[in-house]
Amino acid sequence: MKYDIKDLRLAKKGKLRIEWASEYMIVLRLIRERFRRTKPLKDLRISCCLHVTTETANLALALKEGGAEVFVCASNPLSTQDDVAASIVKDMGISVFAIKGEGSKVYYRHINSVLDQRPRITMDDGADLVSTIHKTRTDLAAGILGGTEETTTGVIRLKSLQKKGLLRYPIIAVNDANTKHMFDNRYGTGQSTVDGIIRATNRLLAGSNFIVCGYGWCGRGVAMRAAGMGANVTIVEVDPLKALEAVMDGYSVMPLKNASRIGDIFVTLTGDIHVLRGEHFGMMKDGAIICNSGHFDVEIDIPALKAMSGKVRRVREFVDEHSLKDGRRINLLGEGRLINLASAEGHPASVMDMSFANQALACEYIAKNHDKLGKRVYSVPEEIDKNIARLKLESLGIKIDKLTKEQASYLESWELGT
Ligand code: ADE
Repeated sequence: MKYDIKDLRLAKKGKLRIEWASEYMIVLRLIRERFRRTKPLKDLRISCCLHVTTETANLALALKEGGAEVFVCASNPLSTQDDVAASIVKDMGISVFAIKGEGSKVYYRHINSVLDQRPRITMDDGADLVSTIHKTRTDLAAGILGGTEETTTGVIRLKSLQKKGLLRYPIIAVNDANTKHMFDNRYGTGQSTVDGIIRATNRLLAGSNFIVCGYGWCGRGVAMRAAGMGANVTIVEVDPLKALEAVMDGYSVMPLKNASRIGDIFVTLTGDIHVLRGEHFGMMKDGAIICNSGHFDVEIDIPALKAMSGKVRRVREFVDEHSLKDGRRINLLGEGRLINLASAEGHPASVMDMSFANQALACEYIAKNHDKLGKRVYSVPEEIDKNIARLKLESLGIKIDKLTKEQASYLESWELGT
């Protein structure tokens, strides 16, 4: 079996942590048990480009028990949990190509390693796997039944491929399922981003001026949790609707150039490039903390920050202090990469449970329906989404009501009015 990981001897610790996560992934466990019996993914090679975490390990196991041959590489150079990678290889017998801190060259070598397995299904988080196929491995596309995409940024890239008529095989946008973005993006990113900032800095949030750039599902979650810890939260937006929502949710809203002067901690979650730029660094307070929780490390203009800096010191494991020429210091966390996965452990298992239930069921859907799918980006079918919500509620021991017959027929009628 081929693999490229940091150290196989880390497997024992990884196994314990994977088991811990499994306790909170009850929906995925139910799917895994059914997969073990029915083998819906029999003989399918699935290449996954995902954050290599305890939760991903549980997903990989479910796919394997469904009959698939699974190959895993990292979807971010800094998100791999090396002990987990070791346990996936040693205890699950699944190939992993991922090392925390790998450079860009190794990152793409690892992507090519999982592509060398000639996948029938691709599973992506951010679309680096699919974009590599479309750029340099086009020969593989004809053999691929379909793919899945985990995140907002990846779905945007894939829709751009589709719009230009270039998409070579069907993709299920897992991110667009309600049981994904309403929970993972909001509560997962909300908690894990705050967790990442605290682990990296040990700073007190209460009373701090906390600037959230982007008020999508992820930004909403981070704002909500930072406010819950006593921070004064300010939202920066370009979309009038989202900005208005932020106002009515009780936050200050202002342009970034105004927020730059008052912020103690800045987080970007926009999915766009160069949100925090030189003009903003030039106005920030001494000691300002800047970090990113969007998928790619492009949201902070790091080259501009470096160009403005006289000296850069690593003052804590995930903190690079940039001393500007006028003496002010700006602290960049996690090299501008996803802070929730760089310095913390990503989203907790109970929320990844729903995201990865969507992934597993989307794979099964592709296996069963690939001949009916075109070269398009599809939503997760509504019945899968609803079923995951139902199972999650059951796993939490929560019961809900049913419509009476009268209520159901009222909703289908038009005759009754005032
Ligand atoms: N994305 C965010 N958190 C994650 C996690 N814990 N595992 C895999 N992907 C993630």
